[in-house]
Amino acid sequence: MTTAADFDKKYNIVDEKPPRHSLLRGRFKRSFAYYTLRERLPVILTQVLDNLSRDKDDIAEQYGEEVREEIKEIVGNISKLKYQLQTDKALEPFTGNEPDKEMWNAFIAGLNADNDTFFRICWLHGECYMYRRLSSYFQSMIKMKDYDYFLKQKENALKCCTDALENVVNSTRDSVLSEEFFIRILKLNLWGNRCDLSISEGKEIKQTGNLFDSVDSLNSNILVDDTKQIWNCISEPIEGNSRIIDFVQDNSGFEMFTDLLVAEYLIDKNLATKIRFHVKAIPWFISDVTPNDFLWTLDYLRNHPTSTVLRSVGEKWYKLLQDGKFEIAPQEWFWTSPYEFYRMKEINEKLYNKLAESHIVIFKGDLNYRKLIGDFTWDFTENFKTCLRGFQPTNVCTLRTVKADLICGLKEGTADNLDKIKPDWMVTGEFGVLQFSSST
Ligand code: F6P
Ligand code: MG
Repeated sequence: MTTAADFDKKYNIVDEKPPRHSLLRGRFKRSFAYYTLRERLPVILTQVLDNLSRDKDDIAEQYGEEVREEIKEIVGNISKLKYQLQTDKALEPFTGNEPDKEMWNAFIAGLNADNDTFFRICWLHGECYMYRRLSSYFQSMIKMKDYDYFLKQKENALKCCTDALENVVNSTRDSVLSEEFFIRILKLNLWGNRCDLSISEGKEIKQTGNLFDSVDSLNSNILVDDTKQIWNCISEPIEGNSRIIDFVQDNSGFEMFTDLLVAEYLIDKNLATKIRFHVKAIPWFISDVTPNDFLWTLDYLRNHPTSTVLRSVGEKWYKLLQDGKFEIAPQEWFWTSPYEFYRMKEINEKLYNKLAESHIVIFKGDLNYRKLIGDFTWDFTENFKTCLRGFQPTNVCTLRTVKADLICGLKEGTADNLDKIKPDWMVTGEFGVLQFSSST
C-alpha cells in the first residue's frame, strides 16, 4: 500500500499552503485541494461504484438485461478513473459525441504540459474534469445514456426534511414587502447552501427545525453582508413592464426549495416579472440541480404523500412555471465546463448576453463562487469586484457558505481572528457570505 509519505514524494507534493496570488492546486499539501483530491473524490467515485453494484438488478429490470454489459463497462471505466486520480495522471481528451466535447478538448489541449495532471492542474479544473469524465462513461452508452447516478441521493435530500420544509413554508405565508422580510428570506437561502452532498461525500445532510425563524442567530457567521445593497438593487422601480431575475442554481433538496421561496417572493411582491433558473446539463458535484431534478421537485411537492402545506406550495410553483413566471433556462454546457466566469464572454458570448438581459444574477453556492473569483489565493480583503476580473454582465450577487479555502471582501483582521478561534473555518460551511457587485 502507498503511504501518504510515499505518495507525496512520488508526486512532488510540497508540505506548504498555496502561496498568495496563485492558483489553488493539489500539489500543496496544506490546501483543501489536496485533501479533496486525495480523500474526498476517491470516496465519491467509490460510492458511485457501490451504488451501481447495489442497484444493478433494479437497473436491469428498468432498462432490460442487456444493460448489465453496460454496467460492467462503466464500472471498469470508473475504476480506471479512480486509479488515474490516485496516481496523478494527466487529463485526457474526450472521444465521445457529447455536445460540449470540443469545448472541453480545446481546454485540455491548452493546458501547460508541466501542469496537466490532477494534482498539478488548477483544482477547479481538475475537479470539474472528474465529474465531466464520470458523466462521459454514461453518455457513451445506449441504455444508460441519461442515467443519473446521483438521483437517489438528491431525491432523498428533499424527502428527508418534510418538517423543515413545512416550517419554512408556514413562516413565509404572510410575507410582507419590506427590506427586513426580504433579507430574512435571502439569508434562509444562503444557509440552505450548507446542505450540499459533495462536502459530506454523499452522506445525508438533514435540515431540521425552522431555519427561517432562526436565521438571526446565525448573523455572526456572516462574514460579508451586502444584503442592503442587494435589496436596494432588487427594490429599484421596474422600468417598462418587465424585469428578469436570474438564479444560477446549486443544489437540489432543501437549498433548491429555498431558491423557490425567494423566487416566489420576488414574483408575489412585483419585484420581478420572470425568474429564470439556470441548471446543470449533467449530474454534477453530486447534488446540483438538473432539469429533471427541477421538474421532479415540483412534481414531488404538488403530490406530496403526507403534507397538504407542501402540496399547496408545490401547486403554486408549478403554476408559476406553467405561466412562464418561472422558467428553466435552456440547457447551457458552459455551467459544466471548467471555465471561470470571467471567460464566459469569450467562450459563450450568447450566454453572457442573456445574463445581461437580467436585472440581477444570483449565483448560488461554493462552486459558483469558485468560478466567480477563480480558484485563486486572493488577499482575503480584496474587493469582490476586482476578483470578478470584469465579469459583470449585469448586477451580480453571490450567496455562498464557505466550503473551500478562498474568499474575498473580508474586513482587515477577520481572517486572522478566525484562524485563531476556528482553524478550519474555510471548509466547514458554517460561515457564509452575501456579496454584491453593481453593474453601474
Ligand atoms: O469539492 C469542492 C467544493 O467546492 C466544496 O468545497 C464544496 O463542498 C462542493 O464542492 C460544492 O459546494 P456547493 O454545492 O456549495 O457548490
Ligand atoms: Mg453543489
